Amino acid sequence: MDKLTHIRSQLPALSAQVYLNTGTAGPLPEPVRAAMVESLAAQAAEGRIATDYYVKLSKLKADVRAQHAAMLGCEPDEIALTQNTTDGMNLVTLGVNWQPGDEAITTNLEHPGALFPLFAARERYGITIKIADVLDRPADAAAVIERLITPRTKLISLSHVSFITGAVLPIREIAEAAHRHGVPVLVDGAQSFGAMPVNVKELGVDFYAVTAQKWLCGPEGAGALYGSRAAAAQLRITFAGYGTAQAYDMYSGLLPKGGVQKLEQGTVQPANLAGQLAACRWLSQEVGMDWAYERIRRLAAAARELLAAVPGVTVLTPAETAGLVSFQVESDADRAVKALAEQGIIIRTVPHPRSLRLSAGFYNTEEELERLAAALKPLAGGR
Ligand SMILES: Cc1ncc(COP(=O)(O)O)c(C=O)c1O
Repeated sequence: MDKLTHIRSQLPALSAQVYLNTGTAGPLPEPVRAAMVESLAAQAAEGRIATDYYVKLSKLKADVRAQHAAMLGCEPDEIALTQNTTDGMNLVTLGVNWQPGDEAITTNLEHPGALFPLFAARERYGITIKIADVLDRPADAAAVIERLITPRTKLISLSHVSFITGAVLPIREIAEAAHRHGVPVLVDGAQSFGAMPVNVKELGVDFYAVTAQKWLCGPEGAGALYGSRAAAAQLRITFAGYGTAQAYDMYSGLLPKGGVQKLEQGTVQPANLAGQLAACRWLSQEVGMDWAYERIRRLAAAARELLAAVPGVTVLTPAETAGLVSFQVESDADRAVKALAEQGIIIRTVPHPRSLRLSAGFYNTEEELERLAAALKPLAGGR
């Protein structure tokens, strides 16, 4: 059995459909399902407060942090466990020491995961949100953003890969520009982590929020947040719990953990952690990150080409892609997505501007992309 056939055999969801929607949620691999089931079975059989229960849980958390640190190029103490990308975005955005009149910068390519925490900060602290227009020129984002920085700018919050157009933003250049003005950078890594190489130290960012359920093919309800030690030290705690403290005293209060882990709070589902760990291990050891990235890159490029040749289709995604490819049709986008789903081909629409979006997973094949292109021909409204 060749490698791709073996990998696909571990993803049962692929046999029923042409699954091109990992940007929403990846297919669940058998080893991840098995790890989650095993965790639940142990909880049922042994009870949830067996003597070594918390010892095991603490080891599981440490293993998940270490895996994420290895995959993101940082140290385990720079990783906090979160629920999802949005959780990480909220913890950082609301943790800035905002004063009324302070400013945040984001772009017009963002998901609610980055935007809504900024809206909440505006509501709560009276900040101003500046939106960099980079829709048609993502490659120039650093210059566009730098022009918006003022002495009141306290945060730049944006995604590495836009969930709308699939554009990869020049995060390293943006971080360099931000740091020339002493502004921290928070990156929404929902569409980059697991889809393309990410090294937070090489990117030079301050915070990077990721999740398990998308390109990692892990469970929902499990994410991680990178925060450099220096940036984490500047951040205030919005939600505090036993996970936050190194020590505490009833009267004098809590001594927070050193770095970004001070943002961890209370009890989490161990089965999620077990699934998150299994997904990291499966992807990095069995699938191989380089193999996965190379396939994703190649398939996304093939998708751009195949779609561009379909009459009525306009491809929005620039040549440098991660795994998302967005396009517009001359017909009704929702109707096209529904008609494709009826043929077992799963893609989705995205807003602002309204488009269709496919996700090229490492487990997808060129034949699947050809099937999509062929099925689109009569639906795209072209002549
Ligand atoms: C760019 C981006 N950010 C954030 C999210 C939300 O992610 P999560 O559900 O992990 O919070 C998504 C997808 O849903 C996304 O595409």
